[in-house]
Amino acid sequence: MTAGIDDIAIYIPRLYIDAADFAEARGLDPVKLQKGLGVSQMAIVDANQDPACLAANACLRVMEKNNLSPDDIGRLYISTESAFDESKAMNSYVIGMLEQVYGQGSFEHCGGVETKFACVSGSYALYDNTNWIRAGEAEGKSALVVVSDIAKYDMGSSGEMTQGAGAVVMLLNDEPRLLEFDPKVTSTSIKDEYDFYRPFGKETPIVHGQYSNLLYMIQVRKALEAYKKKVISSNLIKMKENETILDHMDYINMHLPYSNMGKKALAYLVRHEWRQLPRWKNILEQIGMEEPIPKDPRGTIESVLADEEFMAKDHEFTKLFTKTQEYQDVFESKLSSSLIASTMIGNLYTASLYLGFRSSLEFEYQKGVDLEGKRIGFGSYGSGSSAMVFSGLVQPEYEEIVKSMNLEAEIGQRKRLTWSEYEELHENKLTPEQSKVHTKKEFVLVDVKTDVESRGERRYVFTS
Ligand code: HMG
Repeated sequence: MTAGIDDIAIYIPRLYIDAADFAEARGLDPVKLQKGLGVSQMAIVDANQDPACLAANACLRVMEKNNLSPDDIGRLYISTESAFDESKAMNSYVIGMLEQVYGQGSFEHCGGVETKFACVSGSYALYDNTNWIRAGEAEGKSALVVVSDIAKYDMGSSGEMTQGAGAVVMLLNDEPRLLEFDPKVTSTSIKDEYDFYRPFGKETPIVHGQYSNLLYMIQVRKALEAYKKKVISSNLIKMKENETILDHMDYINMHLPYSNMGKKALAYLVRHEWRQLPRWKNILEQIGMEEPIPKDPRGTIESVLADEEFMAKDHEFTKLFTKTQEYQDVFESKLSSSLIASTMIGNLYTASLYLGFRSSLEFEYQKGVDLEGKRIGFGSYGSGSSAMVFSGLVQPEYEEIVKSMNLEAEIGQRKRLTWSEYEELHENKLTPEQSKVHTKKEFVLVDVKTDVESRGERRYVFTS
């Protein structure tokens, strides 16, 4: 049985901090954010928003757009790393909100859990729900998989320039109009690591930034190796001599903690794939230097990062590699459109990969490309750490969905925060009623109880 993504909707908070204002306040060169990281604006949640109401707003959009009733939905999964309860799952809050619109008890039949593995958990949730459909257990119902997060780092930390917030929901069923997942090729890699983690009770993560960048690339490459083996053994793709698996992906969507991480990761994967092929000789001639090797090629990530001479040479080599026409062609045709939304919104943790997927569909379609039958490869990464590589084919009915995509309209009118407004929000100084914008027909948080008996209980309303 086939299964995949039938439709997709997003919800992005209306507030943002502009990269230029951020750089000025922090005494940074604005070019570092805009060109070095690929960050122009970062979405920030209002005082009356949390990841559950971002998720509920996204779910309502996809349901209304497709005239779905709760009876059409068999499962509602939420993947997040911004959970605010150690026991009560975030999908229960979302169901509570949706029932304010669809009627109390209307989702009673619907199963689901909250899943966690940093930014990769949404991909695991997609995979599990795809298999629920493939196994024939869905009985004609669809699944909603929501990825919702607030990427928030400590004030003054280097992670602070890679924040963002938002939710993406994917409607999965057995007759997907957008993307059918390739069967039996989804591949993972996993390793106990401390590149980025958020201990109990801490609102912001502990991050080893450069370590996380390198680990992300290593883990995705391992998952890609496993994917390659499965693709070949399952005969999904017939690889000819001197080809790489990446040649068979028309688009590559990467996890985007900031948009340039996608560029970095693509360059890393392409380099590793091309190195084995005759085309590499010509690339090396263009670059004009040998590919550097670390002093201890079998060393740890720490030893590689500490090898300053290697890191500097490798940086230079990568820069030259990314300037070659061959790499530029891959970048422009397979990745560039997926980065546009990330630049405007920032990191969405679990939702970043899927915002990139959504971005690539909209902006490739706008270029006039016929997307039918194109294979999209996904490189998902979650700190801590695990990666997942999988793929799917764009379906003949895709145009029904993609022709009406309009990122700016779906984000809505935004308010550019002043630095002091940003600080107030970041430091949680405002109560929900002090929200900066007042929205209509959206779920908002109105209260979090503080008394001993009901501490942590949240109340949401649907604004009129
Ligand atoms: P940093 O170390 O301050 O930045 O923080 P940098 O020195 O690496 O500079 C960034 C880029 O800007 C570099 O480009 C510089 O050259 C360039 P590159 O060399 O890499 O191509 N640059 C400039 N360009 C133009 N003009 C200038 C200038 N100055 C520098 N004046 C870092 C960067 C990403 C480490 C930091 O923001 C951070 O720690 N972020 C959070 C962690 C993160 O996003 N890690 C990404 C991989 S791990 C991951 O994706 C998982 C995650 O999403 C969490 C999860 O799974 O849940 C984070």
